[in-house]
Amino acid sequence: MAAAAESAAPTVAPEDLSPGRQEPIFLADDTKIGLDQLRVSANYKQYLSHVMIPQGYINDRIAGLADQIAAEHLDTCPHLLCVLNGASVFMMKLVEELHKAYSARACCVGKAPFTIGFCRVKSYAGTASTGEVLITGLIGDELKGRTVIVVEDIVDTGLSMTRLLPKLREELEVEKAVVCSLIEKRTEKSCGLKARYVGFSVPDHFVVGCGLDFNEAFRELNHICVINKAGIEKFKDFLL
Ligand code: HPA
Ligand code: MG
Repeated sequence: MAAAAESAAPTVAPEDLSPGRQEPIFLADDTKIGLDQLRVSANYKQYLSHVMIPQGYINDRIAGLADQIAAEHLDTCPHLLCVLNGASVFMMKLVEELHKAYSARACCVGKAPFTIGFCRVKSYAGTASTGEVLITGLIGDELKGRTVIVVEDIVDTGLSMTRLLPKLREELEVEKAVVCSLIEKRTEKSCGLKARYVGFSVPDHFVVGCGLDFNEAFRELNHICVINKAGIEKFKDFLL
């Protein structure tokens, strides 16, 4: 599919309010783990304010999400569509846990329990949403009639998903499209969209680590952390 930049006001489909979903783990506004309480990369320590979600907590939660997804898709062979680059680390961990969850259930003997694919949806530069969304990497009619689980690192304003989901439904004719996001940010700028599967609900700070970046820096950081002023200053022109 050709790349398309779109900037009209977002509309949220009723199904994208995810009524009745299992709520994420709620991290209170004052959630703060000191940088010295965990092993935080010396490369980045001076550019971070605090840890928001330690690696072990992230991994445990991803295993829980995988269990829930497997239990709800025993027969449907969902397609996991990873939104690059942010969701790459979450996707790797999720696929590993889904493999375990499906194997333990032995529900797909002789067939594929799920398939995986990738696309790019870009709506951010630095710490600010640009209001424009560019979608690339979705090809042909290979998803027609399928259940697609869009794997995202974070739902912040929700803008990118309000662009991607209609594209999947209307242009690629998928049977069902839902979002699985590691994080959901509590922000006044949210368009109201709620992912169907969410790991953690977090306060309105710019978070980095576990795939989440600031101008491409911090993606490989193991814990999810809050960037500080020095970090923003240091990486504000990094790989834009
Ligand atoms: N961190 C990294 N990327 C993001 C964020 C964030 O807090 N919000 C939207 N994209
Ligand atoms: Mg993202």
